[in-house]
Amino acid sequence: MSIERIRHASLREKVMTAEQAAEFVKDGMNLAITGFTGAGYPKALPTAIANKAKAAHARGESFGIGMVTGASTAPECDGVLAEAGAIKFRSPFQSDPTLRNSINAGHTAYQDMHLSHVEQQMRQGFYGKFDIAIVETAGITEDGKLIFAMGIGHGVEAIKNADKVIIEVNAAQNAGLEGMHDVYGEVGLPPHRKPIPLVGAFDRIGSPYMECPEDKILAIVLTNGGDRNSKFADPDDTSKRIASQIIDFLDHEVKAGRLPKSLLPLQSGVGNVANAVMAGLLDAPFEDLTGYTEVLQDGMLDLILAGKMKHASATALSFSPDALQRFNDNIEFLRDKLILRPMEISNNPEIIRRLGIIGMNAMIEADIYGNVNSTHVMGTKMMNGIGGSGDFTRNGFFSFYVSPSTAKDGKISSIVPMVSHHDHTEHDVMFIVTEQGMADLRGKSPKQRAKLIIENCSHPDYRDMLRDYYDRALAVSEKAGGVHTPHILLEALSWHQRFVETGDMRIK
Ligand code: COA
Repeated sequence: MSIERIRHASLREKVMTAEQAAEFVKDGMNLAITGFTGAGYPKALPTAIANKAKAAHARGESFGIGMVTGASTAPECDGVLAEAGAIKFRSPFQSDPTLRNSINAGHTAYQDMHLSHVEQQMRQGFYGKFDIAIVETAGITEDGKLIFAMGIGHGVEAIKNADKVIIEVNAAQNAGLEGMHDVYGEVGLPPHRKPIPLVGAFDRIGSPYMECPEDKILAIVLTNGGDRNSKFADPDDTSKRIASQIIDFLDHEVKAGRLPKSLLPLQSGVGNVANAVMAGLLDAPFEDLTGYTEVLQDGMLDLILAGKMKHASATALSFSPDALQRFNDNIEFLRDKLILRPMEISNNPEIIRRLGIIGMNAMIEADIYGNVNSTHVMGTKMMNGIGGSGDFTRNGFFSFYVSPSTAKDGKISSIVPMVSHHDHTEHDVMFIVTEQGMADLRGKSPKQRAKLIIENCSHPDYRDMLRDYYDRALAVSEKAGGVHTPHILLEALSWHQRFVETGDMRIK
């Protein structure tokens, strides 16, 4: 704990314990809580609120909150609150197992939405009034301005929109973060919107600090805890094969003169496979790469440290413990190579389209026509959420979807006749890549796409089943006079149903 992180004299008087601050949070309140992919979330308040909820429940009283974050948080935020049965409503992205169970058990109402829409919808009032914003910072300046921590997420709108603000000042966050943020909150609402003046991935358009009226600040809590810092799986053979296909394709585009040697700004999604693709770029024949992404994981950090990437812009830094150490050790070197922005800017369709982002995201499954499911297991069970994948898929210059061709020891095919939930439609998805191969869907009709996806991307265990489905679907659809996108409607989701019933998509 370090009171020195609060450089503004009178704000020091607002310091109190997490338990005291939690007293401001009442049953039924709507909270905007910062946090984005395991970074920038409050470390102490959630546990204090969860304890309050548990005590209320033990007395037979109700206690639940609405909670809008930037994206996923961590066990000591989403996890403790979900475990206490305190989250009545939650939006947008999450990935905590306890919260996921609460959502799938029907205890938490969850709204999954594109991250670029969150701050706009907060302004529009779709979430209702926010009673309190809880915001993690790395410090407060002499003149009372806030220094965000490892992520900004929706912090700008949370502070602007909420009636009152509780600030956590986390002394475990590197003080060198000061200056890395680019806080821009001028997006506004139509009809008064102006172009966002960002024309290069590393442009600065705002301020390093966030302003918050002093009278809005209810409490300041001092903390000293790390972010989620989940470890990534080491890239396995499957991830390496996925990565090498994307890299070979990009190299081909460079040689054909359709891409510069520095490519275009890269976006990388969450998870192990997306991280492995970035790791693969370390040995790729590109130079002066740039990043424009929402979450920056180990892979992109290492590209910068290796001198392969010039600079990167993100809304949060989400590192494994080892990568965090490399970040802290090299913060002076990284100072002019990393920018942290509000998610409304990192994920903004206007900017993504302008910069021509190369988007790479992981999926749960794709169908033979190129529709992608990123969120639902077997059509009904929420995994994490759509996050920013849709923002980058529809608006990016290239949009890659990557996945191993099977899941759960081969019992599930990631290429199916029809996706059990649609997140990204065939109109947006440009490339499907599995360890088996890549399908370039650009400029192809549904039937041309189906051939490519089945032959290039599906696992051999499922390829004949997919060919058989497609051939029969074509015959059935011909009879019905509609062969544009052949399907046998009653059979299209039978693979999922078979898995639900037998635990295996394969026909025994
Ligand atoms: N059916 C059922 N489960 C599946 C599956 C499928 N078709 N494909 C993957 N899974 C399971 C895996 O078995 C694994 O389960 P486990 O945690 O019990 O081991 C889990 O999903 C994660 O899969 P993994 O292969 O390790 O991939 P990942 O860590 O790269 O995550 C997503 C993949 C799709 C879940 C993840 O990328 C995601 O949530 N994406 C949506 C949000 C997004 O794209 N954001 C991008 C912008 S930040």
